[in-house]
Amino acid sequence: MQGRVLIVDDEKAMLLALKGLLGKEGYQVETAASGEEALRRIETGSFHLVITDLSMDGTNGMQVLEHARAVDPDLAVIMITAHGSEKIAVQAMKLGAADYLPKPFDNDELRVVVRRVMETGLLRRDHRRLLEQVHEVFGFEQIVGQSAAMRRVFEVIEKIADADVTVLIRGESGTGKELVANALHYRSPRQARAMVKMNCAALSRELVESELFGHERGAFTGAIARREGKFEAADGGTLFLDEVGDMPLETQAKLLRAIQEREFERVGGNASIRVDVRLIAATNQDLEAAVRAGRFREDLYYRLRVVELVIPPLGERREDVPLLVDHFLKEAAKRFHRDVKPLTGDALRACVGREWKGNVRELRSAIERALLLAPGAEITLADLPGEAAGSAAPATLPAAPTPLSFRDAKERVVEAFERDFLLDALRRHGGNVTKAAEEVGMYRQNFQQKMRELGITVEEAGKHPGEPR
Ligand SMILES: Nc1ncnc2c1ncn2[C@@H]1O[C@H](COP(=O)(O)OP(=O)(O)OP(=O)(O)O)[C@@H](O)[C@H]1O
Ligand SMILES: [Mg+2]
Repeated sequence: MQGRVLIVDDEKAMLLALKGLLGKEGYQVETAASGEEALRRIETGSFHLVITDLSMDGTNGMQVLEHARAVDPDLAVIMITAHGSEKIAVQAMKLGAADYLPKPFDNDELRVVVRRVMETGLLRRDHRRLLEQVHEVFGFEQIVGQSAAMRRVFEVIEKIADADVTVLIRGESGTGKELVANALHYRSPRQARAMVKMNCAALSRELVESELFGHERGAFTGAIARREGKFEAADGGTLFLDEVGDMPLETQAKLLRAIQEREFERVGGNASIRVDVRLIAATNQDLEAAVRAGRFREDLYYRLRVVELVIPPLGERREDVPLLVDHFLKEAAKRFHRDVKPLTGDALRACVGREWKGNVRELRSAIERALLLAPGAEITLADLPGEAAGSAAPATLPAAPTPLSFRDAKERVVEAFERDFLLDALRRHGGNVTKAAEEVGMYRQNFQQKMRELGITVEEAGKHPGEPR
């Protein structure tokens, strides 16, 4: 086995013996003849393991341990203790020692302990590397957007990611709800544990329940073995309930109980199971309407929306489109091993102005498809799906790389002014549209129409009941 080991002991004979033994095992071994020397070498040596005697004159093993932990939390330490000093050994473990060896020990004992500790360290480093990769894929970085609405979303994510609160993410299909759920999980202290997802819409009532809570053998026809549910699988981590608005009413009652009591039973079982799960739910439904219609439990609704994150449709944040296009182009080029093809000014303007009913998801497919199929070196209007020009709304926020015309430039300035003006008025009235409109002498409908055009949301203006401040 490979790895760099530092042996610390003020007894020369012991140093030499250990060095010989571990050297034969394939480790790269260095020695330090005192605690002080060990501290110095730990700083610069990039070791994987320190084996230190506990009792040494001057700096003792405990201090070496503490120093090692402080310098590099990944650096494992094995403490060699005198016979009969179990108490101290336990203390060393508490301080983060990977293991201890009471004297006298034989060579095999040493070999086994060292090997196990090194393997654990390897696993831990692998695990972290994987996590970092996961972060790259699912992390915050991947959510693109700089519209005020998206900045607001980022802000809230930042504020609540490390709190264990239940979050309800709302937004039309394809707006990025799952992406936001990922970001919440991977920015939380639970990031190293499971992120378990479940789509509540896709299943019948019986199946939803057994998916959520698991079932005992024989609970229903076909339950040939006991099965763990998503709640159990998510223990210590996050459970993401997608399309929660489609959850059957009976299941909603059970879910509510599981949230409140933090315990539940498997389908067909009696034993209560306790879990520690953070819940994130998402829906593209009008939950308030569902509550009024009796399709969604009001108590559950309030329980889920402790914090509510609303992701506006793409049409309300058109200024994000050029960024998203750029992002998807690069991503697709990498994934499909193609060169990035720039969009012509027309094509980009069409993207910005278009009604993307499927929101970001639809934009993404359009870009991927265009990159793969465009015959020329650029992506033109004709390479976009449908008759892009026909269905396009006027491109209100041109961000094409071509110079702006006078008209476009003026439009931009006016728009920026309108945006600030409306937002200020709204803020003065805590997001109350009626009052804000009245104050600035506009009809409410016109005010709202303008808000939509400019991608202003009430949330942005400070009205956000479920959100911590
Ligand atoms: N702001 C964004 N930045 C980058 N990619 C995004 C963004 N928003 C959405 N996407 C991408 O768009 C696609 C749809 O996003 P996602 O699955 O999170 O949407 P959703 O709201 O969960 O949709 P649905 O309601 O249909 O489940 C994904 O490929 C996602 O990576
Ligand atoms: Mg989704």
